[in-house]
Amino acid sequence: MELKNQKLIIIDFGGQYNQLIARRVRECGVYCEVLPYKKADISAIKSDRPVAIIFTGGPNSVYLDSSPTISKEIFELGIPILGICYGAQLMAYSLGGSVKSAPTSEYGKTNTDFKTDSVLFGGLPEKSVTWMSHTDYIAKAPDGFRITASTPVCPVAAMEDPERGLYAVQFHPEVNHTQHGSDIIKAFLFNAAKCLGDWTMESFAATAIEDIRRRVGDKKVLLGLSGGVDSSVCAALLSKAIGSQLTCIFVDHGLMRKNEGDEVEQAFSDWDINFVRVNAEALFLEKLAGVTEPERKRKIIGEEFIRVFESESRKLGHMDYLAQGTIYPDIIESGAGDAAVIKSHHNVGGLPKDIDFKEVIEPLRLLFKDEVRALGLTLGLSPTLVYRQPFPGPGLAVRIIGEITKERLEILRNADWVFRDELAKSGIDRDINQFFAVLTSMRSVGVMGDGRTYDYTLALRAVTTTDFMTADFARIPYDVLERCASRIVNEVKSINRIVYDITTKPPATIEWE
Ligand code: XMP
Repeated sequence: MELKNQKLIIIDFGGQYNQLIARRVRECGVYCEVLPYKKADISAIKSDRPVAIIFTGGPNSVYLDSSPTISKEIFELGIPILGICYGAQLMAYSLGGSVKSAPTSEYGKTNTDFKTDSVLFGGLPEKSVTWMSHTDYIAKAPDGFRITASTPVCPVAAMEDPERGLYAVQFHPEVNHTQHGSDIIKAFLFNAAKCLGDWTMESFAATAIEDIRRRVGDKKVLLGLSGGVDSSVCAALLSKAIGSQLTCIFVDHGLMRKNEGDEVEQAFSDWDINFVRVNAEALFLEKLAGVTEPERKRKIIGEEFIRVFESESRKLGHMDYLAQGTIYPDIIESGAGDAAVIKSHHNVGGLPKDIDFKEVIEPLRLLFKDEVRALGLTLGLSPTLVYRQPFPGPGLAVRIIGEITKERLEILRNADWVFRDELAKSGIDRDINQFFAVLTSMRSVGVMGDGRTYDYTLALRAVTTTDFMTADFARIPYDVLERCASRIVNEVKSINRIVYDITTKPPATIEWE
């Protein structure tokens, strides 16, 4: 996409906080993109004319031959550069300073002294806490640099050469543990690099719409809509851009929560698009009959989904483009490759491989999740839709332990609905990032009225998390849990026992399957 705004480039040397840096920069209204160092071609950067460059951290030592590096020419482009952690060491090493390995690492919150007449730390306290995570350190700053921060074990915790526009910090200003981290990033963006801060969601939407119109012309676009945040925002954006040239296929696999299929259809009923809902519950249930193994469930649903999507799209005649709601973290993260498969994830929309499309368009490919939400609101989607919790592609199938039947789905839907209703009534739903009910395959004895029951145990799961990679169980007050339990056993048949899941992730996962 051709952006009219200024762009900052983040050169990624393999640091764990690369996305966080990008988000912090964008929060300041400065558009940025993350570029792996291997792809950081100097002439390309030169013609791209970024307003500034940031080097991320990384796990290596600068003086190893195999370590990530970048041509020294980058320091001569006249573009302001901020090096963070490994990026700081690389700057020092490349420009003639010295980097050494310390006998012990400096890790965690660290008291740091600052020179407050510097560009980066002007107006900040002389002492504050920074977040460190390094073994190597800059032992000597290169000529021309002034040392602007230090810690008891790190002589050069920051250095700068404003004349050349070069700045470096050993600590991580992007993490919250660094006390004035955002101010330091702002000082780099606005004082050192003179950024305008002109990037807003309105400007992104306007550029994206123009771009889609130019690319698609009078051709047709197909989108798989799940009702999740990404595909919904994608649909809204495309609808603004090309209206009825867009067709959305919503495959209702019958594994949605109570009323959800109708809500998705309702949400898009007023939009100027072609909306096709495929009610495929019977088909999915048939394929899932007797299947209890979690990975098989996931595979069956993923494959069936593609098949239904393909056969529906064939009925529509030729479509030129396939749109997908891919977002920026998917792009930055792809390529890691060797992580163990914990669960095979399935995302509605990103699937068909052998349908004949001219091209794939991914209008959200440059946005982070919170930006996708902001864009959704800008485009007029309802807050309920925009702030929806994540819902796994395989839906309730991974929240029913054991066999999936129409009857068990109904039990889970009703119980899950009561849980959601009670959390909403108590007002604590806003503090919990994801919550749902799980129907176990365990049955136990209970007593109801004068009779013995032998029914299912239902588990309630509620977590707080920022990234869904790790999670803590939510501390729901006992009286709220009590109301949930009492209503569920009274209102939902076949459940006589409720348990609350108090495991964190790791070692548990958020979903049960
Ligand atoms: P786990 O269970 O792995 O889940 O801790 C992490 C987050 O991912 C969601 N999830 C999925 N999302 N397709 C998705 O789009 C999937 O197949 C899938 N499985 C899990 C889960 O709800 C949680 O938010």
